[in-house]
Amino acid sequence: MLLISGLFTAAAGEINVIPRPAKVDVGTGTYTVPRNIGVKGADKASQGLAKEVIETLTMTGQEASGVKKGGDITVKLNPELGKEEYKLSVNPKGIEIEAATATGGFYAVQTLVQMIDADTVRRTVPICKISDFPRLEYRGLMLDVVRCYIPANEIKKFIDMAARLKLNSLHLHLTDDNGWRLEIKKYPKLTEVGAWRVDRPELFPGRLNQRNAEEPTPVGGYYTQDEMRELVKYAAERHVNIVPEIEMPAHAAAAIASYPELACEVNDKFVGVFPGIGGKDASIIMCAGNDKVYDFYQDVLSEVMEIFPSPMINLGGDEANKTLWNRCALCQERIRTEGLADSEELQGYFMDRINAFVRSKGRTAMGWDEVTYGNPKEDIVVFGWQGDGTTAVDYSRRTGRRFIMTPAKTTYLIRYQGPQWFEPWTYFGNNRLSDIYHYEPVGDDWTPELERSMIGLQGSLWSEFCKTADDMQYLVFPRLMAVADVAWTPKGAKNWPRFLESLDMLIPTLDKLGIDHAESMWNVQHTLTPNGDGTVSVDLQCERPDAQVMYSLADSALSYPFSRFNIAEPGIIYASTMKDGERRGKLLQLPLNFNLATGREVVAADCSNGLSLRLTNGLRGSTRNSDFEWAGWHNRTAEFTIDLGEVQSFGKVSLGTLINSDICVLAPDAIQLAVSENGVDFMPVSTVKPGITAEESHPVRIVDIELPVEAGTHARYLKISATNPGVIPDGMAREGSATWLYFDEVIVE
Ligand code: ACM
Ligand code: ZN
Repeated sequence: MLLISGLFTAAAGEINVIPRPAKVDVGTGTYTVPRNIGVKGADKASQGLAKEVIETLTMTGQEASGVKKGGDITVKLNPELGKEEYKLSVNPKGIEIEAATATGGFYAVQTLVQMIDADTVRRTVPICKISDFPRLEYRGLMLDVVRCYIPANEIKKFIDMAARLKLNSLHLHLTDDNGWRLEIKKYPKLTEVGAWRVDRPELFPGRLNQRNAEEPTPVGGYYTQDEMRELVKYAAERHVNIVPEIEMPAHAAAAIASYPELACEVNDKFVGVFPGIGGKDASIIMCAGNDKVYDFYQDVLSEVMEIFPSPMINLGGDEANKTLWNRCALCQERIRTEGLADSEELQGYFMDRINAFVRSKGRTAMGWDEVTYGNPKEDIVVFGWQGDGTTAVDYSRRTGRRFIMTPAKTTYLIRYQGPQWFEPWTYFGNNRLSDIYHYEPVGDDWTPELERSMIGLQGSLWSEFCKTADDMQYLVFPRLMAVADVAWTPKGAKNWPRFLESLDMLIPTLDKLGIDHAESMWNVQHTLTPNGDGTVSVDLQCERPDAQVMYSLADSALSYPFSRFNIAEPGIIYASTMKDGERRGKLLQLPLNFNLATGREVVAADCSNGLSLRLTNGLRGSTRNSDFEWAGWHNRTAEFTIDLGEVQSFGKVSLGTLINSDICVLAPDAIQLAVSENGVDFMPVSTVKPGITAEESHPVRIVDIELPVEAGTHARYLKISATNPGVIPDGMAREGSATWLYFDEVIVE
């Protein structure tokens, strides 16, 4: 679709800038910014800052030059403002910018450029006074360039847009099980071996490990030190600091593949760079009893700190499986000699030792929130990712130390950003644009000290399901705009419709910068729920309040504005969204089937995901287990009872079952069906062993498993009990993992 930006002009009395500035007073009228912008310093002391403003304008694609008299922008150095603070006033005759630093001036220009871009044709900006400063000191994006290696030039695009959004930190996840991405001169094998993995066509979780050293490893890449220095400089020119992350002691298979002697001696298995999750091999981690491991990390970090001037260096520290440490003589000896209680304290010792080295170089260590389990001796800034960031919050309550919020369930950009039927495959549930925008990190019971210790917010992109830079951009944008708004804009200043209006004006900038982005915010999420009386209630929602949901039951010409409705017959529901007479969302098509169970009540006390009512809603699931159509039971027997409303006669029962060993979803071992007329006395009628082994549970598919009943069976209640087949067997990609049972529909005919 052609977006003519000139049509998207600012509503009267408003400006459209993301993140929303702290204070905005809009006057009447507009000022037209000329195509060639003349910039002058207010006085002698302001000349340097004026020069910076010209450079920033040029960098963002504006034409600007210095002038001695008149001028469209007057720049004034105001040392009383904060480091990232600025003032911007637009008057009928011109624009004034005040800042104390180059960063403040840079941010003033980002604001101004967004205002110009909201009306690219006329270049008018509203008369206004803006006084702006960030809520949080660390405003970040994490890119996992391990799971998906992208060239340095592609990282620049993320930096360009991060800068436009006044984000100041790009956290690069550089090392993991799946690759080592940074040239280290002292350890050349890290990139000769560790940057490359076997090619496996499966989705990330289902990829089997490399079998031996002879298998070719064509997939990967790395950044040379020169390339990375150039990237660091590029980012710094845009007031973005690159935070390097070097993972330890786990998530280190790429380093161990390169230098196997760094793992605990008890490991006698071949370790390659993992193409996927790694299965049990993920428990092969760096030995904490071997001094060579500490030397290795100190050498690596010495080179890292020469490349990255970042005041903070991330040491990872997450998800360290202690199986080998518990069996390793050297690790056990270290526990004894250091007087440690257990292997958790051993990780504390490990992180403390590397932290001390980082501190000796005048830098501060960071780590994922698991580093708090070992009670760090010295300051370490923690990324709160588990739960609501609770582990990091508790740590700060205990120690007063600083932390950064990046809770998985809100700010992990790997998760689906909209109705899953339209999204490319990824993990877990949904983190929609609106979920991120409405996120408030500070809890009601936080003390002011605790609030001050939360120094930042980060959107984190894990890239397990990405193959290209475009895939990564799709997951990051537009959600990074919401991250920026939460991190910058004062608490309590949220206005979702206004944010969306500003976002619409910023999206052409993504197009101009050649950045891919999602349109998921326009799609319809359906929820179909049985009413218990044989009818199904239909709910169709779009997260944009300005999008009108339209539907039709006849054909794809969407004729009705949505209001909740009930449906009692089979058919296809078509739905999408419109705005200003134009279709914006993708076309949702829901084929609805009716059988004797459809629209009927389901009782399932211990369904793990709370979606048991989807079993009788008439709608089949997609192959994504998290699309909200699958009732799931984790690591337990699935048991549920369906009430047909009255005694019915039937001769066929089947159970829609998802099968996908890659994500630990297997067919049940056995399924029992019992029936009852009164809901109390149940009579077993059949037991089925589907006989679908774990090995046969790949690739993903949906199977309707038949539960034999005699023709003319009479019953009102059907009780189904499906036993869990246990953990994924050895030799498979997810070996040893507990499994799920997922059913989308019970079909009774
Ligand atoms: C993490 O997601 N393991 C930090
Ligand atoms: Zn060991």
